[in-house]
Amino acid sequence: MKRALWKSCFLLTIPTVLLLGFAVTPLWADDADACISCHEKSTPGQVKDWRSSRHAEMEISCIYCHGDNHTTAEDGKLAQMPDEHVCKMCHEEQFESFAKGKHNFGWRALNALPITHVEPDELMEGGSGCGGCHNMGIKSEEEKKERLAKGYRYQTNSCDECHTRHSFSKKEAQDPRACQQCHMGYDHPQWEMWSSAKHGTRWFAKEAGRLPEDAAVPTCQTCHLPNGTHENRTAWGFFGVRLPLPEDKQWAADRVTILKALGVLSPETGEPTDRLEMVTSLDMIRSTQEAWQTERDKMIQTCSGCHSKSYATSRLEMGDSMLQKADRVMAQAIEIVAGLYKDGIIKKPEAYAFAYPDFLYYMQTGGGDMENLSNIDQTLFELFMKHRMRTYQGQFHVNPDYAYWYGWAMMTQGLGKIQAEAKKLRTLHELTKK
Ligand code: HEC
Ligand code: HEC
Ligand code: HEC
Ligand code: HEC
Ligand code: HEC
Ligand code: HEC
Ligand code: HEC
Ligand code: HEC
Repeated sequence: MKRALWKSCFLLTIPTVLLLGFAVTPLWADDADACISCHEKSTPGQVKDWRSSRHAEMEISCIYCHGDNHTTAEDGKLAQMPDEHVCKMCHEEQFESFAKGKHNFGWRALNALPITHVEPDELMEGGSGCGGCHNMGIKSEEEKKERLAKGYRYQTNSCDECHTRHSFSKKEAQDPRACQQCHMGYDHPQWEMWSSAKHGTRWFAKEAGRLPEDAAVPTCQTCHLPNGTHENRTAWGFFGVRLPLPEDKQWAADRVTILKALGVLSPETGEPTDRLEMVTSLDMIRSTQEAWQTERDKMIQTCSGCHSKSYATSRLEMGDSMLQKADRVMAQAIEIVAGLYKDGIIKKPEAYAFAYPDFLYYMQTGGGDMENLSNIDQTLFELFMKHRMRTYQGQFHVNPDYAYWYGWAMMTQGLGKIQAEAKKLRTLHELTKK
């Protein structure tokens, strides 16, 4: 049955391959064998990996993905680096599903940020820093050309991020460690939170054979890519903002302050800026209550595979209300720093549109024309990007330590630091005026 499916997909493939400009006639045995026998010597690890794959079993050899233009040890540059469209020829369902999810926005969201353009290319197009994780996302022809023009030929494929080449294994992608490489660290320590809390602990116990093989254990995939979908999205999402504003007056005001610091609302007029369009077009925030609720309902449905709906709902509502409390602390801190800008006590970095904190500059990285950035601004950024993220993400991932010690406790400490530093700066300013 599967073989028959493959054969029909393969028939569809031939015209596509032609379109892609591969020479089609000798797709078969001779050339395929030539690649393998030479690469068995030049890159034996890859051939071994490929041999272990479903692809090898189904005789999907090197040529299907790399073409057959390169034939000698000297002309490796003629080999094609396959993007996601090559996978699509045979995996249309996964491709389409992936294309709708947030992973598909990784590359574009990265490039939409102003900071990206003052950072070293190696860390962007080169894929060893921000670009290493944000490689995730189908690139347009133009984006690919731009990368090539800068000399970056690799990292064109997102599909090999969770099922790595050349084993392209489903089992590997089902392992939560497949998510760890990117979902860890500074602003999104989901791996650390999950693996050290109850859900993860049970997974490790099960791995070690201390729980029955069919013990109920949620992995990242259970909650975020249920039932084989490749379309991922959460209700709040990164930054934890959404539209419309909440009904609670104080919370709404705090959110306006945060949206100003994201440059989505103008700090001067409170009107939407061009960035609002960017943020919504890149799917960075849920822009309606319905869009948010849809994701929330899906999540509760998933939890209720194991817990009662009431239990799950109350846990997630606690996450929402911790976010509200975190926003209160955050807004207070932003307003203090914004006051220093307003009174000319700290100076607007040239690149900023407004004399107001701008979180989209990822300023802790410094460099370029960001050298002007004050210490207090850096503390503020850390409060937003590190501690606020941990507060609500920790709550949602059922991790008491992240929610409290690395999250909430650090937020209140950060606010204290900002208050003290602002006082110092104001006093100093008064003294130098005299
Ligand atoms: C005569 C030996 C030989 C044959 C035949 C051969 N290759 Fe290669 N190939 C090499 C060597 C050697 C390199 C490494 C070049 C380098 O280190 O940059 C290479 C590089 C590559 C690369 C990487 C290119 C890059 O820019 O990093 C791919 C992909 C590739 N080969 C695929 C194939 C495919 C597909 C075939 C069959 C159509 C094939 N090779 C046939 C020897 C061979
Ligand atoms: C199912 C598709 C697929 C098949 C089949 C395949 N590759 Fe690849 N290969 C990829 C992808 C995807 C990349 C990464 C492309 C990028 O970085 O832009 C890659 C990259 C490479 C590279 C360069 C990067 C590196 O890690 O050195 C080499 C060399 C290579 N493949 C060799 C082979 C050989 C030899 C075979 C056959 C034994 C083969 N590939 C079969 C998909 C495939
Ligand atoms: C020419 C067709 C073809 C191309 C191109 C192709 N695949 Fe496949 N792939 C298959 C077939 C056939 C199977 C086996 C399907 C089955 O088991 O039902 C498969 C299986 C898989 C599996 C499941 C493996 C497992 O452990 O069960 C993954 C993951 C996969 N492919 C990823 C990719 C990726 C990523 C690319 C692009 C880099 C790609 N494939 C390109 C035909 C292809
Ligand atoms: C270790 C991998 C990794 C690195 C390095 C990384 N990111 Fe991310 N980034 C992620 C992950 C994972 C998310 C989603 C996390 C979440 O939703 O909690 C994300 C989210 C984002 C978002 C929000 C996208 C959206 O649509 O909501 C932006 C913008 C962003 N990162 C920019 C950057 C910039 C700029 C850099 C470098 C200064 C960078 N990232 C470095 C993994 C990384
Ligand atoms: C974020 C991680 C991730 C990325 C990126 C990813 N996959 Fe997957 N993929 C998975 C997971 C998890 C599974 C296992 C789903 C399941 O349990 O049924 C899977 C399964 C598959 C399968 C096997 C389906 C089956 O039921 O046999 C194919 C084929 C596949 N993916 C292709 C792709 C293609 C093509 C892309 C790129 C467009 C891609 N994947 C990108 C995580 C990923
Ligand atoms: C038991 C279910 C569950 C598991 C397991 C789980 N998560 Fe989550 N995750 C959630 C919930 C609930 C949210 C918050 C959803 C919302 O916004 O309402 C969330 C949010 C996220 C977000 C968005 C964070 C943000 O800043 O808004 C990312 C990214 C994420 N999880 C990744 C992971 C990764 C990676 C793993 C595994 C290491 C994992 N999750 C394990 C339930 C889970
Ligand atoms: C190669 C890096 C990488 C890997 C591997 C990876 N992700 Fe992601 N993930 C990202 C990036 C980057 C984003 C943010 C994309 C954007 O929104 O622009 C993201 C976003 C997400 C989100 C959406 C959060 C939101 O803001 O709503 C979820 C959920 C998620 N990933 C889950 C997973 C799961 C589950 C796995 C493992 C099966 C996984 N990811 C593997 C890089 C990765
Ligand atoms: C695949 C099954 C499964 C899914 C899905 C699942 N959980 Fe769990 N959860 C468990 C198990 C098993 C435990 C450990 C039971 C215990 O604490 O004694 C647990 C523990 C918890 C705990 C910790 C309880 C404590 O006493 O410390 C919370 C809170 C929780 N889950 C919330 C959720 C939420 C919210 C969701 C959905 C976002 C969810 N779970 C999804 C199986 C699951």
